[in-house]
Amino acid sequence: MLKSYLNLLDHVAIIMDGNGRWATKRGLPRNFGHKAGIKAIERTIDACLKYKIKYLTFFAFSTENWKRNQEEIDGIFQLLRDYLKENPNYFTQKGVCVKHIGDLKPFPKDLKNQLVKTENETEKNKNLVVTFALNYGGRDEIVRAVNKVLKSDKKEINYKELEKNFDTNFLPDPELVIRTSGENRLSNFMLLQMAYSELYFPKVLWPDFDEKELLKALKVFSKRERRFGGIKQ
Ligand code: FPP
Repeated sequence: MLKSYLNLLDHVAIIMDGNGRWATKRGLPRNFGHKAGIKAIERTIDACLKYKIKYLTFFAFSTENWKRNQEEIDGIFQLLRDYLKENPNYFTQKGVCVKHIGDLKPFPKDLKNQLVKTENETEKNKNLVVTFALNYGGRDEIVRAVNKVLKSDKKEINYKELEKNFDTNFLPDPELVIRTSGENRLSNFMLLQMAYSELYFPKVLWPDFDEKELLKALKVFSKRERRFGGIKQ
């Protein structure tokens, strides 16, 4: 049963929400929630490897997250830095290829370099592509893609051409999008890529997400009837 619907699922994209609430509930500063969120990222990567999902995308920092206070922003950057540096062979041992989407221009230089280094070192890994959305916003991506097209000599384009200029051009559209913490919003994540995605909004806060929660999501997905605008066959 599990196997049959896993065949229909290549790409799971996750909006990791609820880190702040998880920390506040424990009387801890918000960044403790983000730190616990990294553990949930690791658990989810392991579970996706186990179930042979090919692409896993995490919404880690949005174009709107710059509105948070500097301490929280710096804390998130530091966690990402440590995560990428901690064990240089961590991704390769697991066969994970690391990628990013989003505009890295405003990020600290050392973090950009670290990310590019990790991407280069892991580019040949074949088991799972893990993409981090960093300074990413669906609207921003569309505008950047259109501007790229305007710089070419094209006078008119179709969606396929536009898609080639998205940050996500190396990814299939996600079949399943999960947003944790009970919020039912997309918050500017892969807006056009999600046009036909199945959406799932569990109550669990991101730091508590684990293999069991992923399995619940996969089971919900297996019961959805996907029609892509057509009719039931
Ligand atoms: C949303 O929860 C979470 C974020 C905006 C940041 C997520 C970032 C990480 C898990 C760490 C980044 C590191 C890596 C490795 C990518 P929230 O803070 O909005 O929670 P709340 O809604 O309860 O306040």
